[in-house]
Amino acid sequence: MPVLSILFSSMIHTPASIIAIDGPAASGKSTLGRLLADSLGYIFFDTGVMYRAVTWTALQRGLNPSDETAVSSLAQQIQIDVLPASKDDGRACDVLVEGQDITWETRRPEVDANVSQVSAYRGVREAMSRQQRRIGLRGKVVMVGRDIGTVVLPEADLKIYLDASAQQRARRRYDEIRARHGQAEYETVLAGVVERDRIDSTRDVSPLRAAADAIIINSDSMTADQVFARVLELCK
Ligand code: DC
Repeated sequence: MPVLSILFSSMIHTPASIIAIDGPAASGKSTLGRLLADSLGYIFFDTGVMYRAVTWTALQRGLNPSDETAVSSLAQQIQIDVLPASKDDGRACDVLVEGQDITWETRRPEVDANVSQVSAYRGVREAMSRQQRRIGLRGKVVMVGRDIGTVVLPEADLKIYLDASAQQRARRRYDEIRARHGQAEYETVLAGVVERDRIDSTRDVSPLRAAADAIIINSDSMTADQVFARVLELCK
């Protein structure tokens, strides 16, 4: 390679093309992911909505969430689409199952209560991870979840593990519910967060953990803007 090309290639910084953001429930991953994707012109993909879509559909169809075989088979059959938001009602994206918009249904308390169990099933994870990987490999994507850096896209250019205390995360989730005029008790939300942490991090398949090469950020004493500024710097 000519000397000038070597010089230029060492001076040009290509931004990370696949950005993986993992971490526990309500740690601010989606807010961060959305801001990053917007500022880089990348696709934002919150993979948790796929597990929520399976959970909601299973409940709708009267399946018992404890029935691993039935729920896994459902996950392998239904068509889930995650598309750019078609409405300006606070949604990050549209979530469709068999063409039906179930975006807000995926946020219901009964989904919160069952999604960790459903997402621990091997059959469910295999079906979801395959689709997520195919989308992620196209690049220019910010993908958010629990196992993106460890399992779905271990080749990601930048891996962030966003953490915060259970109390701080429960407070944020509680404020979100209240902002949407929902009913909630802080103590109940906290108990839910702690229980989901337990299930997500102790499951046999793809448990929640930081990849060895992830950059760990604890957002307890940081605002969303500060976290965003820090990660944007890392991207570039
Ligand atoms: O981020 P969230 O709360 O919407 O995630 C919902 C559930 O899905 C949560 O219990 C963990 C699970 N999940 C997962 O196991 N793997 C992912 N990549 C994303 C979410």
